[in-house]
Amino acid sequence: NNSKPVLMILFGATGDLAKRKLYPAFFRLFRQQALSDHFAVIGTARRPWSDEHFHEVIADAIADENPTEPEQAAFVSHFYYQSHDVGDASHYQVLSQLADKLDNKYQLAGNRLYYLAMAPRFFGQIVTQLKSAGIIDTEGFNRVVLEKPFGTDFESANELSQQLTSVFPEQDIFRIDHYLGKEMIQNILTLRATNSLLESQWSNKHIENVQITFAEALGVEQRGGYYDQTGALKDMVQNHILQVLSLLAMELPTGTSETAIREGKVAALRAVKIYTPDEVAKNFVRGQYTAGRLNHEDFAGYREEPAVAEDSRTETFVAGKFEIDNDRWRGVPFYVRTGKRLTEKGTRINIVFKNLTDNTDLATKNVLTIYIQPTEGFSLSLNGKSLDAQYETSPIRLSYRHDSKMMANTPEAYERLMHDAIDGDATNFTHWDEVAQSWKIVDVIRQAWDQDQTPVPTYAAGTMGPKEAFDLVAADGNEWVWQPDTWFIERG
Ligand code: BG6
Repeated sequence: NNSKPVLMILFGATGDLAKRKLYPAFFRLFRQQALSDHFAVIGTARRPWSDEHFHEVIADAIADENPTEPEQAAFVSHFYYQSHDVGDASHYQVLSQLADKLDNKYQLAGNRLYYLAMAPRFFGQIVTQLKSAGIIDTEGFNRVVLEKPFGTDFESANELSQQLTSVFPEQDIFRIDHYLGKEMIQNILTLRATNSLLESQWSNKHIENVQITFAEALGVEQRGGYYDQTGALKDMVQNHILQVLSLLAMELPTGTSETAIREGKVAALRAVKIYTPDEVAKNFVRGQYTAGRLNHEDFAGYREEPAVAEDSRTETFVAGKFEIDNDRWRGVPFYVRTGKRLTEKGTRINIVFKNLTDNTDLATKNVLTIYIQPTEGFSLSLNGKSLDAQYETSPIRLSYRHDSKMMANTPEAYERLMHDAIDGDATNFTHWDEVAQSWKIVDVIRQAWDQDQTPVPTYAAGTMGPKEAFDLVAADGNEWVWQPDTWFIERG
């Protein structure tokens, strides 16, 4: 559907995120005619670029979408560049004048979206200046879109949140978690809510354990500076993984309203047990990759990566067990793991059902696998009678795969999220209550690890993490379920 008129003011227009994700996403919306003709974008950053140069950069950023010449020209004509120093009040006056001018020219109804694609340390300052300069005092909507990290722990996140809410009400703050824009993550609630076969079994009566794996084959690439200060726990678990866990664990909402869904997620997060340091030691393990070989290529260890300290103790891998203290889930481990330089890129959820019989020769456990990326789809493993023997069983897999989306779906996630932000639908954004609770859950893990001076376990690049991650699950008599994606590709 055609979105509302809008002026987007993009802070960080020369940055990596803008080029890799935002311009392509915006272009795809434009091409699908999902944007109103009444839209304009002001890109800002420190560099003194001309509009012409800005247009060339955008053209370059959308080249993979193969726009025709007229399409490209029409698209870039909506973009304006304004050199801007976020600390300089006079620059916001200039910005304000340009915004008013474009508002008139494109008839934007005073609707404004401020996209902060910049280092979070500038967030507070930017919103305060936007307010002082009167840019947000228009008739239309004024919303701010932010990229993580939202703070580095509960306290700093809380401080940031207070700065933001002194300018924008919570309902106008759109915190991006780009995983919430992914097709199969959006599918979790639908799968549960519309399949009695699944939802009737969705509890500790029938589910033995839940596994969430976010594996990446990439290393830290050019982000060593950020990553070495952050680590996998804060980079992936605090946000993406806990968001997915909340969607799996929540009570089904009574409707599809933003508030009902959010309340369900918050309640699930509040039921996640906050560990003591001893419990952290028992339930969470970390790891750091050393040099290794993957797909016939040699890779350096984490400590050799650019901008990473030689004696870094930052974890590039986390595996852990969350416990959810409510009637639905008591006793069911929610195992999570994520890491860089693992065997393959694969984001999966495995729901492992209890066996009806203790005799493991007779039947394997039923597993529902939700494939989030790169393959998108799901499969359900069942047991059937073996062809040639009356009392033996063979595993059978029923599988469904989206056939339309073979490519990595990140730009598409951004596409949806940008459209939602323009439309004011915050369902797939993270509310402060979720962010706050997620920090409380991970802060204790971080603190316990900071106290613990024993060497960080290592794993060779190209493997699925340190031995400790396998021991963790084995201690409960379980194992990580991992079917290679090729299973789908060959037979799906
Ligand atoms: C980001 C993390 O949030 O998610 C990165 O900061 C990670 O470290 C990325 O690589 C993974 O996203 P995707 O969409 O490529 O799976």
